[in-house]
This record gives sequence, C-alpha cells and structure tokens, in this order.
Amino acid sequence: MKVLVTGGAGYIGSHTTLCLLQEGHEVVVLDNLVNSDPESLERVQRLTGREVDVRVGDLLDEHTVDAVLGEGGFDSVIHFAGLKAVGESVEMPLRYYRNNVVGTLNLLAGMEKHGVRTLVFSSSATVYGANDNVPLNEKCELDATNPYGRTKEQIEDILSDLGAADPRWRIALLRYFNPVGAHESGLIGEDPQGTPNNLLPFVAQVAVGRRPVVKVFGNDYPTPDGTGIRDYIHVMDLAAGHLAALAYLGSAKGVFRWNLGTGRGSSVLEVIAAFSEAAGSAIPYEFAPRRPGDAAISYADPSSALGDLGWSAERNLAQMCADHWRWQKANPHGYKIPDPT
Ligand code: NAD
Ligand code: UFG
Repeated sequence: MKVLVTGGAGYIGSHTTLCLLQEGHEVVVLDNLVNSDPESLERVQRLTGREVDVRVGDLLDEHTVDAVLGEGGFDSVIHFAGLKAVGESVEMPLRYYRNNVVGTLNLLAGMEKHGVRTLVFSSSATVYGANDNVPLNEKCELDATNPYGRTKEQIEDILSDLGAADPRWRIALLRYFNPVGAHESGLIGEDPQGTPNNLLPFVAQVAVGRRPVVKVFGNDYPTPDGTGIRDYIHVMDLAAGHLAALAYLGSAKGVFRWNLGTGRGSSVLEVIAAFSEAAGSAIPYEFAPRRPGDAAISYADPSSALGDLGWSAERNLAQMCADHWRWQKANPHGYKIPDPT
C-alpha cells in the first residue's frame, strides 16, 4: 500500500512509519515540523534500510495538501498531524481549533477530490473527559474538558458525519490512552519541546539529570496510593494497532471507534518506581497539588480492538520504562545536539 502519513515526523508517527516500512508499505510523510525534528525520519530510514518520502508542508495550506494527494496512487492516510498540549490549548484555543480542525478539513477535501477514502485518525482518551467510570469502553459518553480534547471530539463528529453521508469511506477513530516508551533500538523516541507536559517524559528527563525532581500532582485521589492512575501503552504496540486498523479497513466500510490501551492502570508512584528500576537509580519526587481537570483514574476496555482487529498490547510497564530510558539515556537532549557553550 501507499500510505500518506500526516505528522509522520512526530513521536507516534515516526514509530508507525517504521512499522509501515517494515511491513513493505510505501510511505509519504507530510509534516510542517512544528513539533518534530526530521532527524527522526533519518533514523527510521537507517533502521529499516528503506526510504521515506518526506514533504515539509502544512495541512493549513490546502494547496500543499492537494498537490501531495494529487500525485496519485495513495491507498490510505494515517492522520497524526495536530497540536496536542492541553495547557497551551486553554491559552490559545483558536490556534488549536484552526490547526487541528481546519487542518483535518483540508485533508478531507484533498482526499475526497483525489478519491482516497481510507483514513486512520489519531483520537485520544481525552475525549472521555474526567469520566472515571473505568474501564472506559467506546460507548462511554464523550465529554472533553479542554480545547485540545474538544478538537478531537469535533473531528470525530466530522468524520462520523462524513461516513454517514458517503458509505464509500472507511474510517478508524483510534482513541489512544497514554503512549510511552520508544523503539527498542533507542534510536527514535519522544522528544518534547520545552517542559514536558506528560509524566513519562518528565520522569525520563529527571532520570537523565535535565530536571531536579518529579512533581506528583495530587496524593489524595481515591486510589490505593492516592496518586492518579492511567493506562500507559508502549508506542510500538500503538503503532501495531494502526497497521491492524488499516488491515481491517481493507475489508470494511464505515466509521469504527477503537480504544488502544492495555486495559491495566498504573499509578504515578508505580510509574516512578518502574522507571527507577529501569534507570538503576531512585528518581526523586515530591508531592504537589492536583492538576486541574485531571481524572483520578483512567484505563481502557480494549476488548473491541481485540475482537475486531485481533490486536492487543503486548509490552508491560517495565518494558515501556526500559525502552523509554534506553532512548533518553542515549539521546539526553532528544534529536538536538546540545550547544557546547
Ligand atoms: P507529535 O507532536 O510528536 O506529532 C505530531 C506531528 O504533527 C508533529 O510532527 C508536528 O510537526 C505535526 N503537525 C502538527 N500540526 C501540523 C500541521 N498543521 N501540518 C503538518 N504537520 C503538523 O505528537 P504525537 O505524540 O506523535 O501525537 C500524534 C497524534 O496523536 C496527535 O494528533 C495527538 O493529538 C494524538 N495523541 C497523542 C497522545 C500522546 O500522549 N502522545 C495521546 C492521544 C492522542
Ligand atoms: N503527572 C504528575 N506529574 C507530572 C505529569 C503528570 O504527577 O509532571 C500525573 C498526572 O496528574 C496524571 C498522570 O501523571 O495522574 C498522567 O499524566 P499525563 O499528563 O502524562 O497524562 P494524562 O492522562 O493526564 O493526559 C495525556 C495527554 C492527553 C491525552 C491523555 C490520554 O496529555 O492529551 O493522556 O491519551 F488525552
């Protein structure tokens, strides 16, 4: 298959691109590099011995999207491109709605025009909001609590309407839980810009000495150790979920929703302990107030993905931390070479 991967230079996109190439697919990446470094795809090429056709361009530029899709031959699109920082989305809602929603509309217009009607979309468990009626299944009510999450909900609505209007579309809405870890080579991984918003990259930067201490947001939640519980999923398992979804869409039309999670929850303290074990030294932490908007507990019911796609996550928290640490240790400043001054 020839697959257009939007946002393919980013964290999840680069790992999925690697898996697509390994499965023999042809990949064209469209990314404006707003939150990524093209070095990720250089390394994917090195790991696979195959070429990635990278186009630096913005989904907000409809002519670019039209030109890429107009080259022809595409069988499907995996749509990762988007902005994803919750706090920033609260401060700059218009930027988020424009980038994520308008960017998606431009992509869909290009796909429609050029007759490409198979799409895998990166949605998020954030669409379930602060619902902690776990395990969360795909029928749970959606109630995102911030502009970022609402862009995902709105795009899901747009795609559902599109599928209802035109039965030729094949659309997978993949609701990721908490992606972490890295390819086992340690060559590619998550490279957040600025202060990491998410737990694992923050813990990893403390472990590598870039930050002094992990702040644990809340220790008075109704959970066994009082800290928040999440469903962490290895990025390579997540990448495999995209290939499984693409394969499913090959023989099914319509709009499908699948949670991609492990079905198991880990607390913040369990994550810090597992990462300390992987890194071979205790990671310092201190308790801090709760972060506004956080659910106490969130984990997936991943049984639909197992039933429909034959997919389930294989890697446990220890492997996630070991792989994340291998990447962080070998690349303490991510893809950037630090300024020696
Ligand atoms: P990422 O920031 O590493 O990757 C996103 C990529 O999209 C980046 O390379 C960025 O440069 C590109 N991009 C953004 N806007 C663009 C535009 N207008 N035109 C072209 N390229 C653009 O993020 P990620 O963690 O790999 O996430 C991928 C997708 O998965 C995102 O849509 C994100 O919202 C979603 N998601 C991520 C998580 C997570 O915790 N990482 C969880 C749930 C859902
Ligand atoms: N946490 C800390 N300290 C930190 C960062 C996080 O204690 O420095 C805690 C949080 O309070 C939470 C847990 O660690 O209990 C996980 O937090 P993350 O920010 O890593 O993940 P969230 O589940 O809060 O949110 C993330 C993304 C959302 C996405 C969601 C599900 O930010 O956009 O995962 O995919 F929707």
